[in-house]
Amino acid sequence: MRMNKVKSSQRINQTGEYYFSMRLRQLAELKLQGHDILNLAIGSPDLPPAPEVISAMQSASAEQNIHGYQSYQGLPALRSAMGAWYAHHYGITLNPTNEILPLMGSKEGLMHIANAFLNVNDTVLIPNPGYPAYKSVAQMVGANTIYYEMDPMTGEAIFDHSDHVLDEAKMIFVNYPHMPTGVVASHDVLRKMNEKARKHDWIVVNDNPYSFLTDVAPVSMLQVDTHMENTIELNSLSKSHNMAGWRVGMVVSNPEYISYILKARSNMDSGMFYGLQKAAIAALELPDSWYHTLRTTYQSRRKLGVQLMQALGCHVQPGQQGMFVWALVPQGFEDGYQFSDHLVDNAGIFMAPGGIFGTAGNQHIRLSLCSTEPVLQNAIHKVSSIKKSLS
Ligand SMILES: Cc1ncc(COP(=O)(O)O)c(C=O)c1O
Repeated sequence: MRMNKVKSSQRINQTGEYYFSMRLRQLAELKLQGHDILNLAIGSPDLPPAPEVISAMQSASAEQNIHGYQSYQGLPALRSAMGAWYAHHYGITLNPTNEILPLMGSKEGLMHIANAFLNVNDTVLIPNPGYPAYKSVAQMVGANTIYYEMDPMTGEAIFDHSDHVLDEAKMIFVNYPHMPTGVVASHDVLRKMNEKARKHDWIVVNDNPYSFLTDVAPVSMLQVDTHMENTIELNSLSKSHNMAGWRVGMVVSNPEYISYILKARSNMDSGMFYGLQKAAIAALELPDSWYHTLRTTYQSRRKLGVQLMQALGCHVQPGQQGMFVWALVPQGFEDGYQFSDHLVDNAGIFMAPGGIFGTAGNQHIRLSLCSTEPVLQNAIHKVSSIKKSLS
């Protein structure tokens, strides 16, 4: 085999391949060998976007002269629609000219924020458990990461670090409502976070893709930092509008912070396809009934998801919301990785091991609710009928 002389960067060596990228490749091989694997791991909505969104994309794509590069800041009409959406659903007034930047999903926003604000050796606080990309983006720009855990009932951050360490930190990633635990933080918890951030001079980056999948009115970190002095919020149409593959998100903050993020972003991509932007406008203008249907769909699926976890002997903390069920694996298993492998081998079901979200998730497993009720019912049936080999 030819040996390449140039090796990958240290940055990529320490970050490694995304767990799902690696594991799904292995599972695809198993499938090729004839194994039937049901993927209940990934949070990618199975339902389609609203018909209005599809037609907006179709008609916009047929317009003349729209296939060139688009503005780095997005169409003014898209920024206005995002502003109106924030006003209607979160009660927050934003200036679409300079306080909103459309993105191709919130995941890319994390990288832009890291590039825009972090220097080598800066310190960033990261939730444990939490979305793995927070750590990856911090590492990729050479920043140091420190984990904080959360109260499993309230989502309140627990800092067992000295004030000196906390003063050193420049940024904290938070994710309310929280993935993977499904905890929805109260305004009191958000307020405490904001006070803590002011005390230690942190920028709070709230990653907020799940606020429409809860039983309560959508919550935003900006509701407790109305002047956006130290808050940057990412939002996304991936889960709220079943548009994960379309890649539409946004970042909102004060004009100065948005200008830094725009600088970083303008060096990475060259704007978002016009048709997508028109489709996103249609999505943002959907009536409240869209969100009601979405919520009730996930509520019904959640009941089945909890039943499935219970059939597996896992413990589910009550009160969870969002797109996942987060559960403690049964005794007798070393950790969630072992239990996840065991489930693939014995039931042909793939769920995400909690350890991929951080050490505090090691004993957990995460089930995605992005499957229909019949699929979840079948999984319950399957597990119940082969229960002996699963224990
Ligand atoms: C907490 C969290 N943040 C961000 C994302 C990425 O969202 P987007 O599709 O907007 O990039 C996900 C996706 O699963 C997520 O769970």
